[in-house]
Amino acid sequence: MGINIISMGSYLPEQVLTNEDFKKFVDTNDEWIRTRTGICSRHMAGWEPTWYMGKQSALKAIERAGIDPKEIGLVIVSTITSDFLTPSIASVIQYEVGAENAYAFDINAACSGFVYAVDTAERFLRTDENLKYVLVVATEALSRFTDFEDRGTCILFGDGSAAAVIERSDKMYSSFLASDGSGARKLFARNVQIASQVKVESDFDDGFPEKPMHQLYQDGKEVYKFAVKALPTAFRSAAEKIGITSEEIDRFVPHQANIRIIETAAKNLGIGTEKFIVTVDHHGNTSSASIPLALCEAIEKGDIKRGQKLALVGFGAGLTYGSIILEY
Ligand code: COA
Repeated sequence: MGINIISMGSYLPEQVLTNEDFKKFVDTNDEWIRTRTGICSRHMAGWEPTWYMGKQSALKAIERAGIDPKEIGLVIVSTITSDFLTPSIASVIQYEVGAENAYAFDINAACSGFVYAVDTAERFLRTDENLKYVLVVATEALSRFTDFEDRGTCILFGDGSAAAVIERSDKMYSSFLASDGSGARKLFARNVQIASQVKVESDFDDGFPEKPMHQLYQDGKEVYKFAVKALPTAFRSAAEKIGITSEEIDRFVPHQANIRIIETAAKNLGIGTEKFIVTVDHHGNTSSASIPLALCEAIEKGDIKRGQKLALVGFGAGLTYGSIILEY
């Protein structure tokens, strides 16, 4: 079985921060940011709730699908920047969009989250015959967890949301999901303060760098090394299952973290970057929202057309990675 992406919608908060704007917070410049990351600007949510951005993108996707929200049977939201520990943002959005017959839950797989969420939707559609439509939303407000005094990380991230309405279909589909928790300390934000005098029977917490709660820590170089390997590995692992090659893929939609990661991964796959959808220049890294934001924009611009073979490839904190190959 596979899926059909019926429609998509996206939402970006109004405020835009350019590279120049970062000079107000940290010692940086446009040239450094552009050449090291490919980023020129990104959107900022301010105190706009994460769920609210998700609701806006979901409403657009539902309207474009032309369905009654009551026909949605499941709402899955991918986020690492929830407004709540509980309830899930999925429950909030389920109520706010009128999907009154849906069950709902959140997924946290960091920047791989949309890939995880769509693959989860596919599995639910495969096993629950009463399920007709799944609403998948990725919504992120990274700016709320960014240390604006850390010039190595604050310039990378942006906020936004995108959503998809999905149904089952017999179109081509393959997926691959992976996680390597030994890399947890390379990219993390703590939710509670760990008391150092409390000893547990595991050395997992040893070696975690110090960082205040709710602020993102990143070992940029290590994450970079992981990302340039994870992207081709994730693609190949899904591709081998259905015997498809990178040449046969029409469009790659990778996680938008850094243009250099995308260029190196394309080289590792032996293909040109022209097949890659790139929005990191004006979105920055919006974690799990980055793949659907790029996908939605490319569909709206006509860069992705019905019948094309797509590879969605994510990687991020966890460390997680994964990919989905599907026909649009
Ligand atoms: N502006 C100007 N200089 C900066 C800077 C900034 N915003 N951030 C760091 N620098 C400086 C550093 O202090 C360092 O100076 P030094 O040589 O005097 O010590 C120099 O630039 C090089 O820093 P370094 O960290 O080695 O740069 P880099 O080439 O590794 O690039 C990243 C940094 C963060 C862009 C890069 O490591 C990266 O993209 N990593 C992956 C991040 C990522 O994608 N994370 C999300 C994954 S989901």
